[in-house]
Parts: sequence; structure tokens; C-alpha cells
Amino acid sequence: MERLQHLLISLYLLILSINLTTTTAQSPAPAPAPPGPTNVIKILKKAGHFKTFIRLLKSTQLDSNLNSQLGNTNNGLTIFAPSDSAFSALKTGTLRTLTDQEKVELMQFHIVPMFISSSQFDTVSSPLKTHAGSGARFQLNVTASGNSLNISTGLTNTTISDTVYTDTNLAIYQVDKVLLPLDIFTPKPPPPAPAPAPKLKAESESPDDGVSKKDISSAVSFIMYHDTVFFIVGTVVAISFSL
Ligand SMILES: *[C@@H]1O[C@H](CO)[C@@H](O)[C@H](O)[C@H]1NC(C)=O
Ligand SMILES: *[C@@H]1O[C@H](CO)[C@@H](O)[C@H](O)[C@H]1NC(C)=O
Ligand SMILES: *[C@@H]1O[C@H](CO)[C@@H](O)[C@H](O)[C@H]1NC(C)=O
Repeated sequence: MERLQHLLISLYLLILSINLTTTTAQSPAPAPAPPGPTNVIKILKKAGHFKTFIRLLKSTQLDSNLNSQLGNTNNGLTIFAPSDSAFSALKTGTLRTLTDQEKVELMQFHIVPMFISSSQFDTVSSPLKTHAGSGARFQLNVTASGNSLNISTGLTNTTISDTVYTDTNLAIYQVDKVLLPLDIFTPKPPPPAPAPAPKLKAESESPDDGVSKKDISSAVSFIMYHDTVFFIVGTVVAISFSL
């Protein structure tokens, strides 16, 4: 009887230890997702008037970067989100004439890899370093002026018009103008940037088309894009000659 008891106890201990080793062996494998991670796109969607910004974040594939950065960084993020009316106020064809790389840069220029609460803009030193880079061609100055927070890029003057979202790690501010970095919209020193494509009547009917469903990573659409630009320029030249 005592022997049986011993046997049962050792059997129990054996099973217990097998259980323990299997659970400890499993636990370091797939890190469990943090509960309810902050999702920038979800927040912007909920606000309802950032459709173009969302589309560009997705087409440039920056959206997934943002969410993983929020999970990894201690510094947090500050995002200046241009409203849909900010995008439609852009000069017709502005987005259309950008290369895929420039679209990425334009989006990155709206993202600061550091959490800045609205009261911290007083103490943060301008220009802010954005994801697009820093230096003379990437100026993004935010200065407190009376009750408003003024933003200046050298090409765009505007103010923060609303706080869309803030916690202790992420701040999203609404801006009513697209923040244009000098780097994209002023000629680069070595090879002068090509003259902006002349306005066409057809373009003004759909100012957003340049953003639309183009796959940013596809070389084919990239080439097609340039073909289209050259085709448009060629057509205009031909028309003006025939006038
Ligand atoms: C800040 O913006 C406001 C509103 O647009 C403007 O009146 C003010 O002059 C600006 N301040 C500076 C220092 O640019
Ligand atoms: C931004 O601030 C820096 C430093 O204060 C200044 O030198 C620069 O001219 C400012 N740029 C713009 C576009 O306001
Ligand atoms: C932005 O504001 C500054 C000073 O407030 C002014 O000198 C500059 O011309 C403005 N730039 C644009 C593009 O409006």
C-alpha cells in the first residue's frame, strides 16, 4: 500500500515536471500581441475627414511602420494629419507630379518620431526632426504664438487646428494645409527639377487622382506614371504649337 502511494506520487511529480518543461519551452516563442495596440489608421478613420491622408499612408506602406513603431519606441510619435480639405486645397496636380519616393517623403515629413504634447511645443526646439530627415531642406518649425501653435516649413504657414488624439505616447494633430517640405517643392541644386507640368482642364476635375490606387512598389506603374506625365507634356506642347 505504501509502495503504491509512493509510485503514484512519483508518477504525479513526473507528469507535473513534464508539464512545466513544456510550458516553459513554449512561452518565449511567439510574443503575444500587446492588448489593444494603438492603431493610427483606426483613429484617423474614426475622425472621418482624413481619407486622403489615410490612403497615402497606406499606399506608401507607412501605416504598418507607424503601428510597429508605437509598439517599439519609448519616444512615441507625433503626427500632423492634413484634413481632406487640406489636400483638395493643393494646387491641382501637386500629388500627381510626385514620384513614389517623393510621396513617401511627403508623408514622412508629417511624422515626428517623438511624442509632443500641445504644451510641450513651447520647449521643443525647432526645426523638428521628422521621419523625412532634418536639415535645411526639411524645416518644420512649430512655435507657440498667443493661443495658436504656428507651423512653418518655409513653403507652408499654418496652425494646428485641432487635437485629433493624444495619450502619453501618441499625439495626432489636425492641420488644414498639407505641410510642404522645401526638399520636394523647391528645385534641387545639382540637376534642376523639371518645370511643373502645365495645368490641363481634365486634371482639375479630379484633383485626387494622382493619389488613387497606384501600387507604390510596382515598377510597372511607376514607369506608366512617367509615361503619362511625358504624354501629357507632349500633348500640351503639340497643342500650343498648333495654336
Ligand atoms: C501665427 O498664426 C496666426 C494665425 O494664422 C497669425 O495671426 C500669427 O501672426 C502667426 N504668428 C507668427 C509668429 O507667425
Ligand atoms: C525654423 O527655425 C530655425 C531656428 O529657429 C530658423 O533658422 C529657420 O529659419 C526656421 N525656418 C522656418 C521655415 O521658419
Ligand atoms: C510665412 O510667414 C512668414 C512670417 O510670418 C512670412 O515671412 C512668409 O512669407 C510666409 N510664407 C508663406 C509661404 O506664406
